[in-house]
Amino acid sequence: MRAYYAARATYYDLVYLKPERTQDLAFLHQHIPARLAGRSVLEVACGTGYWTQVIAPRVPSMAATDWTPEPLTFARLRPNTENVTFSEADAFALPTSLGLFQAAFAGLWFSHVPISARAAFLRSLHARLGPGSRVLFLDNSEEQCDELPIVERDAEGNTYQHRPLPDGTQHRVLKNFPKVKELEALVATQACAVQHTQLDNFWLFEYDLNNDACPMTPPSAP
Ligand SMILES: C[S@@+](CC[C@H](N)C(=O)[O-])C[C@H]1O[C@@H](n2cnc3c(N)ncnc32)[C@H](O)[C@@H]1O
Repeated sequence: MRAYYAARATYYDLVYLKPERTQDLAFLHQHIPARLAGRSVLEVACGTGYWTQVIAPRVPSMAATDWTPEPLTFARLRPNTENVTFSEADAFALPTSLGLFQAAFAGLWFSHVPISARAAFLRSLHARLGPGSRVLFLDNSEEQCDELPIVERDAEGNTYQHRPLPDGTQHRVLKNFPKVKELEALVATQACAVQHTQLDNFWLFEYDLNNDACPMTPPSAP
């Protein structure tokens, strides 16, 4: 994954120029910053900072993290990100030195998390968030498979694409398309105000971590 995204960093943003994504992106450019406005935000797997530059102007402060140095180099050059601290961080081991936040965002990241590692990722993320924090995950819909078909499925159900790059290399990339029920089950005891929005090219999953105003949903009786 790191080698693949390091190699793609210089032209990664082309994914946002696909004409069929224009309408979804117009909605997301409004919706995402509106939902995070006024909160300190931790961004995970920020890549080249495409969403960082959209969110930063609406929030007091932001930490944008990625585990690969090459895309971060581009993210640091984004305009209007003076209130953003960029750093290398593994999404599965977000360091306490980042601090505590009131919201989190991850774009096109959750689909790369192995099924067996989802809970560990959420533990790492939620440990950096205060009660009542808002979380947004944006990702690709299965529409993407028209261009990049699923070519493998492993024993735990993770799916893989073979992605060619212009330099002639081919990369085996884990890319999952989680069902709404799987996402809801993952956060069921920790979150409220859970929303899933299906767009043509993307899905968006949003929730608020429990606090007094939004108490934990008790698990149903066995
Ligand atoms: C599809 S890109 C998403 C970039 C950006 N968030 C966006 O929406 O355009 C996935 C990113 O995940 C990063 N990544 C891979 N493994 C990671 C890890 N363990 N922790 C944090 N980021 C990771 C890659 O470097 C890459 O920038």
